[in-house]
Parts: sequence; structure tokens; C-alpha cells
Amino acid sequence: MKILMVCLGNICRSPLADGLLKAKVQNEGLDVFVDSAGTAGYHVGEAPDSRMRSTARDKGVPIDELRARQFGPKDFSEFDLIYAMDLSNFNNIIAQANSEEEKLKVKMILNESHPGKDLAVPDPYYGGDRGFAEVFDLLDEATDIIINNLKK
Ligand code: 4NP
Repeated sequence: MKILMVCLGNICRSPLADGLLKAKVQNEGLDVFVDSAGTAGYHVGEAPDSRMRSTARDKGVPIDELRARQFGPKDFSEFDLIYAMDLSNFNNIIAQANSEEEKLKVKMILNESHPGKDLAVPDPYYGGDRGFAEVFDLLDEATDIIINNLKK
């Protein structure tokens, strides 16, 4: 199983989703490959935002090693499941799909914890530090559910 986390810049939300899921996959001894990407290319090659890194580090999930990359259509052939952080990411990913089968791989990540609501993980980039803690809690909850589903 291969799972891809996608946001806009790949420097805030998807790196944390990636780091949380990787840590939980490792804890459970599951055979799941996890990666992340951004729909935009502005931050390609950069480490995650320092505010996201420090929130993640404080909570025991270091994400300092990640480097941003841009999502592309070839990710549909590599990954089984693609999680979008918000509807804008979702629509952007879907627009690059070449078949119904590819479109079916794309999910809104918070629909794991809040089914059918299409809630967004709020973009913390222009907000204060509280936004980063909120993102952590939302993604911690959603990745717990993803892990429980993978264990079934
Ligand atoms: P992310 O946050 O999509 O969670 O990585 C953002 C990062 C950068 C920008 C926007 C959102 N930006 O406009 O540069």
C-alpha cells in the first residue's frame, strides 16, 4: 500500500500528515509507504515551515528531513490512496487524473474523522502559532483512523 498526502505548498499540512502517518505505520509494523507533495511548486526543495517543524518536534514527530516536491500526474500510478487537505487541493488533483479509477484514489483527509463533510485542514501559513497546533490535532485524529483501517 502506498499513500500520498497533498496540500498546496508541501511545507505545512501535508508534511505533518506524512510524518504522523509514517510514525504510526512504523509503530504498528505495517508495510505502508507514505509520501507527500504540494499542488503548487513555490516551495520545491525546501524543508517544512519552521513553525510546523517546531510544533511537530514538540509533539514527538520530527519532520525536519522532508523536502517539498510538486504533485504530478505520475503520482496516480505510484500511489493507491491520495489524501487532499482541502477542496482546492482535491479539485486540483482530480483535474490531473486520466481515468475514473485514478479519480477514485483521491479523498479528503478529514472525511476519515468527519465522514461526508468535506472539511478542510485550515491552511496555517498566514496565521499564528495556534493554527499549527490545530492542524496537529486534526491530522493526529485523522491518521489514527487511517491506521485503524489499514490494520483491518
Ligand atoms: P501548505 O501551506 O499548503 O499547508 O504547505 C502553504 C504553504 C505555502 C503557501 C500557502 C500554503 N504559499 O502561498 O506559499
